[in-house]
Amino acid sequence: MERITSIQLTLALVFLVLQLSVSAGIDPHPSIRTDAAALVMFKKMIQNDTNRVLSSSWLPSKNNNPCTWYGVTCSLGRVTQLDLSNCNLVGAISFDPLASLDMLSVLKLSSNLLTLNSTSLLQLPFGLKQLELSLAGL
Ligand SMILES: *[C@@H]1O[C@H](CO)[C@@H](O)[C@H](O)[C@H]1NC(C)=O
Ligand SMILES: *[C@@H]1O[C@H](CO)[C@@H](O)[C@H](O)[C@H]1NC(C)=O
Repeated sequence: MERITSIQLTLALVFLVLQLSVSAGIDPHPSIRTDAAALVMFKKMIQNDTNRVLSSSWLPSKNNNPCTWYGVTCSLGRVTQLDLSNCNLVGAISFDPLASLDMLSVLKLSSNLLTLNSTSLLQLPFGLKQLELSLAGL
């Protein structure tokens, strides 16, 4: 009986430590790392990348500097522009993943086959100055 209790205690401790390390892994401070994570989440919503724009360039495992990824422009080490116009991207996208790109000022997604979650437009970063979304295929 006592042994079971100590095993349970150990398990509880392991879970606690795991939970602590998981929550420590979430970086609440915006940085180029959170920018990269946001772009990767955005990429996951693209169902068909016919021109292999993202699949050949947005590869965090090979190159974790999103400033060098196709269509991404940085300033002072943060993502400030995203231009994926005319990329033949197909997908149903929501803007929620981009909410953490707090330095984003330009977003261009025109001439793709994207279906938008219009509610999520409210999630776009506050500093956004230019938005181009003339989407085909709606
Ligand atoms: C992606 O698009 C290409 C060209 O339109 C098409 O041939 C292919 O079947 C599509 N793939 C998927 C998985 O939808
Ligand atoms: C659309 O966006 C809203 C707000 O960002 C979100 O709560 C909702 O789950 C999204 N809907 C779909 C179908 O993804």
